Amino acid sequence: MIEIKNITKRFPNTPVPVLKGIDLKIEDGDFVSLVGKSGSGKSTLLYIISTLDHPTEGEVIYDSQNLKDFEQEEIYQLRNHNIGFVFQFHYLLAELTAIENILLPARKAKEVEKRRGFAMELIRIVGLEGKEHRFPGELSGGEQQRLAIARALVMEPKYLFADEPTGNLDSVNGKIIMDLFKKFNEEKGTTIIYVTHDIDFAAMARRRINLVDGVLE
Ligand SMILES: Nc1ncnc2c1ncn2[C@@H]1O[C@H](COP(=O)(O)OP(=O)(O)O)[C@@H](O)[C@H]1O
Ligand SMILES: [Mg+2]
Repeated sequence: MIEIKNITKRFPNTPVPVLKGIDLKIEDGDFVSLVGKSGSGKSTLLYIISTLDHPTEGEVIYDSQNLKDFEQEEIYQLRNHNIGFVFQFHYLLAELTAIENILLPARKAKEVEKRRGFAMELIRIVGLEGKEHRFPGELSGGEQQRLAIARALVMEPKYLFADEPTGNLDSVNGKIIMDLFKKFNEEKGTTIIYVTHDIDFAAMARRRINLVDGVLE
């Protein structure tokens, strides 16, 4: 379980805090959508929950362990092994093929050979079979995003965080991505938190969180 306690976030040059005392519990296996107007702090909150950014005040607790008590090396371990990220802009490496992109997190963890079979299974699950040796530039936008999702899942992370993963996709490809999330949540028990502006996609979650002016509604 991830527990967020009284999170406040201020940026230099911003007089008003972006997040104002957020409390949140995310149970293992949860499937949560995070909605809110542009600028309401969704990305900031997601980055803090996912260890990519630090709160100004407050606690982030993973399975009763406060992130404040983690050594830097333990944070890397947590990130590399238990956390997957999907961004609106997928940040695939153009000079690596699809399968090499997927295996990048495994390379960092020195588990390429161990993960290769699962990477091929992911290729099939996300509908990229036969395209594993293509470069990102040879794939459509929807295919690139599915590739980014496969990369985020190759370590079989306990948690998947996604910041507007369907933001740049048409509705058909957006639905494919959301169905994939649902499948991983149901079949692998992956805890998933995603930001979306789409009302229908938000409604697919088990729980919907609405951020209004830095406060959860
Ligand atoms: N690194 C930063 N420095 C200063 N202000 C920031 C920074 N990141 C985000 N902000 C500000 O924080 C607010 C919330 O941003 P963000 O979390 O990206 O909102 P959302 O994802 O909901 O659109 C915005 O007003 C944004 O300008
Ligand atoms: Mg955002």
